Amino acid sequence: MGKILITGVAGLLGSRLADWIIDNTNYDVVGIDDLSGGYSENINKKVKFYKFNLKDLDALEGVFKKENISIVYHFAAYAAEGLSPFIRKYNYENNLITSSNLITCSIEYSVERFIFASSMAVYGDKYKPPFNENLKQAPTDPYGVAKYAVEMDLEIAFKQHGLNYTIIRPHNFYGINQNIWDKYRNVLGIWMYQILNGTNPTIFGDGLQVRAFSYVDDAMIPLWNASQNSKCIGEIINLGGIKEYTIKEACDILVNVTGLNIKPVYLEQRHETKYAWSTWEKSVEMLDFKHKVDLDEGLTKMWKWAKNQPNRDRFIWPKYELSKGLYDYWKN
Ligand SMILES: NC(=O)c1ccc[n+]([C@@H]2O[C@H](COP(=O)([O-])OP(=O)(O)OC[C@H]3O[C@@H](n4cnc5c(N)ncnc54)[C@H](O)[C@@H]3O)[C@@H](O)[C@H]2O)c1
Repeated sequence: MGKILITGVAGLLGSRLADWIIDNTNYDVVGIDDLSGGYSENINKKVKFYKFNLKDLDALEGVFKKENISIVYHFAAYAAEGLSPFIRKYNYENNLITSSNLITCSIEYSVERFIFASSMAVYGDKYKPPFNENLKQAPTDPYGVAKYAVEMDLEIAFKQHGLNYTIIRPHNFYGINQNIWDKYRNVLGIWMYQILNGTNPTIFGDGLQVRAFSYVDDAMIPLWNASQNSKCIGEIINLGGIKEYTIKEACDILVNVTGLNIKPVYLEQRHETKYAWSTWEKSVEMLDFKHKVDLDEGLTKMWKWAKNQPNRDRFIWPKYELSKGLYDYWKN
């Protein structure tokens, strides 16, 4: 039996999936992360951990040569969608070049299954939600373009080299081990950081943007099934988000969970898709997805965890690649 490689093993989905696999299967888990967005404390002690940036093809080949990898879960990325137009080079190097390195090694070392965490960002703002998997990709920002390009590269790797892939498009998973110190991503985590640090939660625009949220634990069995069910080979499957909320409603639920008497502060609207949620029927049918944890219950768990986290410095880009059009609230 080969081993399972998880990239982004210090992040939310990667660390929690490593825990789940170690607790529920006989597989050995190998993990890679450069700790640019995740924390070593999140990594299960039983994971054979390699710390490096996936841009380093030689280091990556070394891991494939040494470990007998049969399944790859590719989660490593910098998922700051709204920031991606201002860090284009970083975005493509970090999210696309890295993925092509991983695909190269997976072909070379005959990996049996490659599971890629894409994003709902590939749907863009062209379609009326809910977005279903048959819609043609139409991303509206560099983050979504990189995800789309990796999806295309996987299709080519499958046709030309027989790499068995499955594309999962997760939809706003949140929970313990999520990065709450990065001000550019993870709306629920950003609010938790703000509240913990005595400031009011901020909302871009009018707060009527609609999103669906899912607790990370609900992703585990579906992610596992994605690599085990041969019917998933070559498939694209949305994951999560059975119930939609406006951003304002989600903020009210969090404030209620904290028990504090605070109100959100409204900021300049940013370039983003206003209404975005996806279909989930395919994930129920193919991956046995079940929405078990409601937003108030999941936020209660995450808030309890967040209150016990170390007081880390907030991540702020020292220099953006592009300053034109940068929103006031991100200017240094
Ligand atoms: N959480 C969600 O709801 C969601 C939604 C859509 C898509 N996704 C995708 O799923 C994946 C995992 O999401 P997450 O929420 O766990 O993110 P995360 O930021 O918590 O984890 C990503 C991990 O990848 C690592 N990483 C980033 N770039 C790297 C590089 N070049 N080399 C090595 N390691 C690197 C980071 O240090 C981090 O630990 C991402 O690809 C993301 O785009 C997640």
